[in-house]
Amino acid sequence: MARIGVIGAGYVGLTTATCFARLGHTVVCADVDEAKVSALSRATVGAHEPRLAELVAEGLGSGRLRFVLGNRAALADVDFVFVCVPTPTGPDGAADLTFVDAVLDEARGVVGPDCVIVIKSTVPAGTTGRVAAVIDRPVVANPEFLREGHAVDDFLRPQRVVVGAPGPRGAAGREAAVRVAELYAGTGAPAIVTDSASAELVKYASNCFLAMKLSYVNSLAELCERVGADVSDVTEGMSLDDRIGGAFLSPGPGWGGSCFPKDTRALLSTAESLDVDFPLLRATIDTNHAQAHRVVGLVRDAVGPLRGARLALLGLTFKAGTDDLRDSPALATATLLAAEGAVLTGYDPCVSADCGPVRVLPSAEAAARDADGLVILTEWPEFADLDWEVMADAMTGRSVVDTRNLLPPAKVTEAGFHLVPLGRPT
Ligand code: NAD
Ligand code: UGA
Repeated sequence: MARIGVIGAGYVGLTTATCFARLGHTVVCADVDEAKVSALSRATVGAHEPRLAELVAEGLGSGRLRFVLGNRAALADVDFVFVCVPTPTGPDGAADLTFVDAVLDEARGVVGPDCVIVIKSTVPAGTTGRVAAVIDRPVVANPEFLREGHAVDDFLRPQRVVVGAPGPRGAAGREAAVRVAELYAGTGAPAIVTDSASAELVKYASNCFLAMKLSYVNSLAELCERVGADVSDVTEGMSLDDRIGGAFLSPGPGWGGSCFPKDTRALLSTAESLDVDFPLLRATIDTNHAQAHRVVGLVRDAVGPLRGARLALLGLTFKAGTDDLRDSPALATATLLAAEGAVLTGYDPCVSADCGPVRVLPSAEAAARDADGLVILTEWPEFADLDWEVMADAMTGRSVVDTRNLLPPAKVTEAGFHLVPLGRPT
């Protein structure tokens, strides 16, 4: 079993550290956020992630996991250092590597001669090679594919492990890449060991492909509305072709979160910087920007003029199953609705503080009180179980826009509501 240092205790770093400890490795996880380190040392996990707090407690109890403030203890006396710091969007759309570079500067001179530096943050193709050229240690790329809300399961049962070493296949770094792949032996996942640019690109290519599928289905849903087709039947028909598959074919208010928006922009920026025309990616992004406007149009058509209209928004995070509000399409929609003069209340099982223009209330019924219309923005299962007779008593208006096609149409319409789904006959 290995000694592992993990730099950054966010979604990826904390999951990586905790799950490697679960797999039997000894892990030191470092962060610069004092409050986070102190909470984690008491097994208090800020994020809504199933099983994570339980496994943090288990790791702390076993002595295989500890959290430290500042990076030194996670860089020295370890066999592997996993860099898991943010790579946000820079001013020109490219990934901003400031955090990664700062960690690598710190690592220089501290990590032992045989220590392998593993870049798990999502970084543009070529980054690992650039780092390896200026740091006298093995450096490999090992992108992460976990989904928020499923972080632990995705890490412990990944569909693939991808590791890349700089230079062509067969180069010296390959041995380090194989050693990194072996850390995941307990997961049973197939491993791809390749060059680092390919490994880095697998990450962007996957996220951008998924985003493209979603923009495609969001446009398809609009077309379905025009021709009187049902997008659910269309996507079901598509999904039975196993070359297409059924995942990521649900229309919604647009795709968001901390990664799809930034990774699509970063890959486009990489392509542009290399004079590669990638209109498909540009259209994927533009279609997504238009989606929030399309949802606002549907709400306007259903409710009438938005100035002064009271609207209840159910679901505020970027998807169900997470408390993450970063780049949330629900909030993008809320901002546009508020700009047209709508007065917004909201409810989300994972959000208690007001967000932007939305006054957050403790239940769906409370958010709906005196509302002229209601908009479903994330797919929390509890919204499908709402009592629509009770909602009808609470609300003034009778319009419901369901951007996730989650609600049972019969129950909603029987309670007297006009239900507007996406891509389905109303
Ligand atoms: P995050 O914002 O949740 O966490 C990053 C952590 O790094 C924070 O706790 C921050 O305090 C810490 N940090 C910043 N600078 C530091 C430094 N110099 N030293 C030590 N700690 C430092 O970020 P995240 O969501 O975990 O994303 C990290 C990377 O992983 C990004 O490149 C992202 O694209 C990628 N990624 C994220 C996900 C996801 O679902 N969130 C999935 C796959 C890949
Ligand atoms: C996504 C990828 O799924 C992960 O593999 C990847 O590791 C991660 O990004 C990352 O790089 O950070 P995540 O951001 O947790 O994971 O969210 P997803 O579950 O992929 O959803 C992304 C967005 O697409 C959400 O806004 C969601 O509501 C939307 N979506 C998803 C749909 O509108 N319809 C669908 O059918 C699926």
